[in-house]
Amino acid sequence: MDMPRLGQGTWNMGDAPAKRAEELATLREGIALGMTMIDTAEMYGGGRSESLVAEAIAGQREKVFLVTKVLPSNASRKGVVRACEASLRRLKTDRVELYLLHWSGSYPLEETVRGFEELLAAGKIRSWGVSNLDLSEMNQLVGLRGGAACGANQVLYNLARRGIEFDLLPWSRERRIPVMAYTPIEQGRILGNRALSEVAQRLGATPAQVGLAWVLRQAGVVTIPKASTVAHVRENRKALDLKLEAESLTVLDSAFPPPKKARPLEML
Ligand SMILES: NC(=O)c1ccc[n+]([C@@H]2O[C@H](COP(=O)([O-])OP(=O)(O)OC[C@H]3O[C@@H](n4cnc5c(N)ncnc54)[C@H](OP(=O)(O)O)[C@@H]3O)[C@@H](O)[C@H]2O)c1
Repeated sequence: MDMPRLGQGTWNMGDAPAKRAEELATLREGIALGMTMIDTAEMYGGGRSESLVAEAIAGQREKVFLVTKVLPSNASRKGVVRACEASLRRLKTDRVELYLLHWSGSYPLEETVRGFEELLAAGKIRSWGVSNLDLSEMNQLVGLRGGAACGANQVLYNLARRGIEFDLLPWSRERRIPVMAYTPIEQGRILGNRALSEVAQRLGATPAQVGLAWVLRQAGVVTIPKASTVAHVRENRKALDLKLEAESLTVLDSAFPPPKKARPLEML
């Protein structure tokens, strides 16, 4: 299954019983609208997000490109396998399409890759990747035996966090490693920006749609905005149809300047 360009995040979802029905309806609406990549992690709510996702995809598993993540503290060769099996139980499925190392910790990347390979051979994951790895860690990874099979690097990327454009993004594109942009609308904090609102108004769109279309403007970038209301997920889906022309990009560049030099990779 190809990786969809626009998916759905689930951080902080599944925690509040009072919000559960709306969260389930939102994820299902997103799937119906084609946002079939769902991103979760064993860390999110200590497994509650994965359990919510299981309920949302019940009866339509075949449509979904499922992504979950192993904590660095579980990322030994054997730990990765155990953690994945626990995630699969919570997700009520027999495999995920993409399994990510959430960030790099104390276990050598090589050990983690061996664990991923074991899971691949057992059919429990269809591909593996990483998250929050900077350029030097990515260089190290692709130099390892089997490391070039890395299927994605999920990193912080949005209008207000453009650091990766200087180095990591072009590097990843050259190697055809998809960049999965997390927190693509900066958890809502950029939505009140005047330039963003002006561009949105001129295009007959909303600031969130412009922010998402901006992230998706480049080949090799996919993204996973989190919405917990049906109205938000419907709004976000329309970002796929929005093309930003040169004038809008120039306005956005002056409000959110691109990086002029290498910066440390930011993460949340
Ligand atoms: N790998 C990592 O280390 C890492 C780190 C952070 C995030 N992530 C992943 O990336 C996903 C997305 O990032 P995120 O959740 O941090 O932030 P985000 O997607 O940038 O923003 C989510 C926030 O924006 C609101 N929102 C969504 N659509 C909106 C719209 N159309 N108009 C106005 N507000 C809207 C949401 O509100 P409602 O909930 O009320 O709809 C929520 O408060 C996460 O859920 C997670 O799956 C991964």
